[in-house]
Amino acid sequence: MMAENGSGKFFQAFLRNPGQVGAIAPSSRFLAEAMLDGLRLPDSDETLVEFGPGTGAITAAIARFLPDPSRYLGIERDATLVTHLKKRFPQLRFINESAEHTSRILESEGHAKVHSVISGLPFASLPDEVCAQIIEDLHHLLHKNGTFRTFQYVHAYLLPKAKRFRHDMAAYFGRPEKMGPIYRNFPPAWILSWGPGACPRSL
Ligand SMILES: C[S@@+](CC[C@H](N)C(=O)[O-])C[C@H]1O[C@@H](n2cnc3c(N)ncnc32)[C@H](O)[C@@H]1O
Repeated sequence: MMAENGSGKFFQAFLRNPGQVGAIAPSSRFLAEAMLDGLRLPDSDETLVEFGPGTGAITAAIARFLPDPSRYLGIERDATLVTHLKKRFPQLRFINESAEHTSRILESEGHAKVHSVISGLPFASLPDEVCAQIIEDLHHLLHKNGTFRTFQYVHAYLLPKAKRFRHDMAAYFGRPEKMGPIYRNFPPAWILSWGPGACPRSL
């Protein structure tokens, strides 16, 4: 029987496309909860966007956090995982698309204001042009307000691509708040947060 957190489905997705999935296991609930720490609740006209929900490890924490499920939009590139997510979270909306196109997706879905983007994307293993397009699109999405949060595994933190991602983000958004590491995750991970809603808790 499949584990509740979808770890079997997650590993199959990794085997289908290792660079795009970038991990062999879903995030722990400790990392998932820390990804939301200190965020204010969205207003009734704001959307919380999740990049790369995978099998829903962070989505489960988001579903508990949001007072209204219509404030959520998940963007996941793997069609099989989207089918799994729709079954696991029937109250939430998932789009089988790539995060580079978020501005266009939000417009076509009628979401005008972004509260935050919670990202599970493996920026250290995605192609450079995909990372660049996502960062540029984020600049349009979050230029007025809004928080962007992601995690980077401790063992990969100093890899050139991970450093380049932080450098390119800093060019648009300045230096992030760095939280962690979250040791109760495999592998342990740092959380990086740009914009309002920095984590008030010492992790
Ligand atoms: C490291 S997994 C994280 C999954 C989940 N958020 C978690 O923490 O367990 C990365 C996820 O991002 C998805 N992904 C990769 N590139 C993407 C893209 N350009 N747009 C949307 N999703 C993408 C992968 O299919 C995978 O589900």
